[in-house]
This record gives sequence, structure tokens and C-alpha cells, in this order.
Amino acid sequence: MKRIIIFDTTLRDGEQSPGASLDITSKIEIAKQLARLGVDVIEAGFPIASKGDFDAVSKVASHVKGPRICGLARATKADIETCARAVKKSKKPRIHVFLATSNIHMKYKLKKAESEILRQAEWAVKFARGFCDDVEFSPEDASRSDRDFLCRVVEAVIEAGAKTVNIPDTVGYAVPIEFGSLIKTVRTKVPNSDKAILSVHCHNDLGLGVSNSLAAIENGALQVECTINGIGERAGNASLEEIVMAINIRRDILKCTTSINTQELYKTSRLVSKLTGIVVQPNKAIVGHNAFRHEAGIHQDGILKKRTTYEIMKPQDVGFGETRLVLGKHSGRHAFSERLKKLGFELSEKDILKAFQRFKNLADKKKEIFDEDLLAIVEDEIISIPETYRLEDLNIVSGKKIMPQATVELKKGKNILKKSSSGDGPVDACYKAIDKITGLKCKLLDYSLNSITSGKDALGEVSIRIKATKGGEVSGRGASTDIIEASAKAYVNAVNRLFFAKSRKAKSKRKSLEL
Ligand code: KIV
Ligand code: ZN
Repeated sequence: MKRIIIFDTTLRDGEQSPGASLDITSKIEIAKQLARLGVDVIEAGFPIASKGDFDAVSKVASHVKGPRICGLARATKADIETCARAVKKSKKPRIHVFLATSNIHMKYKLKKAESEILRQAEWAVKFARGFCDDVEFSPEDASRSDRDFLCRVVEAVIEAGAKTVNIPDTVGYAVPIEFGSLIKTVRTKVPNSDKAILSVHCHNDLGLGVSNSLAAIENGALQVECTINGIGERAGNASLEEIVMAINIRRDILKCTTSINTQELYKTSRLVSKLTGIVVQPNKAIVGHNAFRHEAGIHQDGILKKRTTYEIMKPQDVGFGETRLVLGKHSGRHAFSERLKKLGFELSEKDILKAFQRFKNLADKKKEIFDEDLLAIVEDEIISIPETYRLEDLNIVSGKKIMPQATVELKKGKNILKKSSSGDGPVDACYKAIDKITGLKCKLLDYSLNSITSGKDALGEVSIRIKATKGGEVSGRGASTDIIEASAKAYVNAVNRLFFAKSRKAKSKRKSLEL
């Protein structure tokens, strides 16, 4: 089975995405991760573009082992010499020279005739070969070039010593049938085409970058140029993870392989997104947040019966973690009760039905239902949570000119635990004192106060939502005529829920280990 060479240009074409500029440290970090991912070639930059780019290519060349390290150069003396200096420290350097061959580029951008372009391309490849054995040539805008002229250029650069000839769809204009046929033409009409690797480089202006690359593979391309998360000029380049997984999952049709360690895909995607600041759309194939999340009841039911009913690949195969059944308003009872089981609740049919009704009502108001919401439902409807801590006493010193101070006493079993703390206000001081006792560190996400009776001695009810540093989000409620006491009770209530959730999770973990 033929092996497709994966040429990653995240650090060059990818970095050309508006706003994606990377510093040297970030480039090296990404390049090292690309090496772990198993790419064959890293195009690390365009050395003549700036000193920073030169330094980055040269650092990647000397620090990153494994893949071939490539730099880009226009077909000029200065570009090629600079590129050669930048890549020379790599054990496997490559110089990538490009020159446009389409009428539109030759006439308006380069203002040169075909004969001049042909001579310049030949000369540039020969010149680059003087520095490096591995030279790649790209006839820029190949997909809009005259085919006969393109074939003459390709023949000439192979004759001049290009080891790889890359056919770019520079402006993402081609469609798969056409692009596949272009590759076939180059392969069959260029007499010496077997002396070089045929490569493709597809942009995504019509959203066809990956499809065009696959059509090219089908017609004899052996190298694909692509980027992580599909970033790149304008609408980007063909996405590496999509090409690799298409080849992996549809080996039956595409009949080829790659050297990519697919379990590193998600991690690489996250790293590139973090360092470039370009977010990955949630529904992005392979690495999007929702790529392995199912919400519809019918799908969840199918997944629970047999994963392959609605999943064509395992999330673990791309390093994603595990399939997530998202509980929301489209979810059904099967997924709901399975999640409850995972949380350690074995409920009767009647109780499940009761809780499910509450869940559906909540799902109508909230986009996603988390484990902590389920715990609250079960606790309200079916089981009451144990009071790990109970508020015994509370002492507040507060005033206009002093820092508020709270002393809290909580009862745990037979023990009374007491701590003091100052804070930004009496409630904050109180919550900090409680954290000191429980050992949890929680962030207050939401706080609201309502009076549930009227008059001066009205009973106030405090509702809060907190998030523990190591734990999920929970809500808590507390009522009292004293609003600080109501606040403290709400907090203790939320903390008890956190402990309850923790013990449930531990129980279900023990259970799955036993299984
Ligand atoms: O899109 C393009 O044509 C390029 C070349 C430099 C290969 O990026
Ligand atoms: Zn490009």
C-alpha cells in the first residue's frame, strides 16, 4: 500500500492566517509536537520574510529531530541563499522554491512571458540544488495555469533536479474532478514525472481543500501539504487531521497510509489553537469540541446499544478522550438513566421517570445539563444528600472602616470545627472561613438573594452557584432572617453537594473497576 508523505505547513502557510503570528518559542514548541505527531516534512517558515522567520526556521532546523525541515523561497538568488542558510543545520534540509505559472500571475504580478518563467524556474532549481540535495518546486497558481505550459515547467524543473514537484491550488478554485484530472495529466503527460514525487497543496476558499487533496491522491499524488486545524491564508489550507483520518478510516477506498500517530491529533490541534489564538469551530471534523458529542435521544440510544451506529471512529484514536453523551432537551431516557448509573444511582423505573420529567423541564431552560444538575434533581426528587457539614455558629465583625472578619463554626460528625477569615465583604469573609475548614477552594459563580416572606423580619433566601478548583459546578440554597447566615447556609449546602458528588463518583469508579 502506498504511503502518503505528510508535509505540514502550519508554521509557514498556517502562520499566514491573519493574526496568527507566532514567536520563535511557540514555533519550536509546535514543531516538536509535529515531530511527535509523525509528520514527514515541516515547512518551518519563509526565511527571507523577516529576521524572526529566519531565526525560527534555523532554530527548528537545529532543534527538531525526525522530520525533514523545509524553508520557502521565491525563485531568486537572495531568497534561495537565505533559505539555504536557514535550513542547513537540519539533518534533512529541504528548499522549497516557488514561481507562478498562471497567465493572470505572469501578466499582472510578475510581468513576465512564459519563456522567461520557464528559464527562471529551471535556473532557480539548479541554483537551489547547489546548496541542498532536496529541492521542491511549486508552480504557484497551478490549477489556473495553462496545462501544456504547466507540464513544460514541471518537466524542466525535474530535469533541473527538483525531487518533489508540488501542484498548488493557490486560490482554492479547483473542484475535485478537475483537480484529480490535473494531477493525472501531469503524471501521464510529463515524460520524466516518475523521477519526482508529485505533491499537492490545496487552499480552502470553496471548502474543497481536503476533497481536492484526496482526489489528487487517487490520481497519483504522493505528498500532501496541509496544516493543523486547516489554518492558512484566507479560508485556510487543507486540514491535516481531516486528510489523515479520511485516509485512515477509508483505507478500503483510498488504499494508502500515512506515518501519522493519530492519537496525537487532538493534542496538536489544541496546542496550535492556543499558540496562534485561532479558535477551532465546535463542529470542526476530527478535533472540534462537538466532534464526538451526541445530543439527540435517538443517537444516544443507538450509541449506548452499539457505538458504531453513530460513530465512524473512536475518539481515543485521535486522542480526544471519550464519547460524550450530552444531556440536553433532545436527550432521551436511555442516556439519562445511563448517566445516573454512572453517577452511582440505581433507581427504580418509577423514580427514573419522576427524575426524567424534572430533567426535561430543566433542559428546556438550560442548554446543557451537567452531572451536578442531575445530582440536584435526584436529591430534590428522590434522595436527600447527607449533611457532611452543618452550620453551627457564625460571628461577623463588619463596619464602614474595618475589614470584615468572619468566624465560622461547622459541625462534622461529632466535631466542631472553627476558623476565621477576613474578606472583601462579610459574605466573602464567611466563605473564606468555610473554605479553610473544608479544605476546598471554591469560586462563587452566581449569587442571588430573594425575600420569601414580607416585612422587616422577612425570611431571605440565598441561591448560589459555586465551582470547586478540583470538581464541578454545584448550586446551594439557604434561608434565614439574617442574610449573612442565609448566605453561609447556601454555601454549606453547596459544599455538601460537592462532597456528595465526589463520593458518588468514587463509588461508580470502584464499581467499574469491579466490573
Ligand atoms: O498556495 C500556494 O501556492 C503556496 C505556495 C508557496 C506553495 O503556498
Ligand atoms: Zn498556500
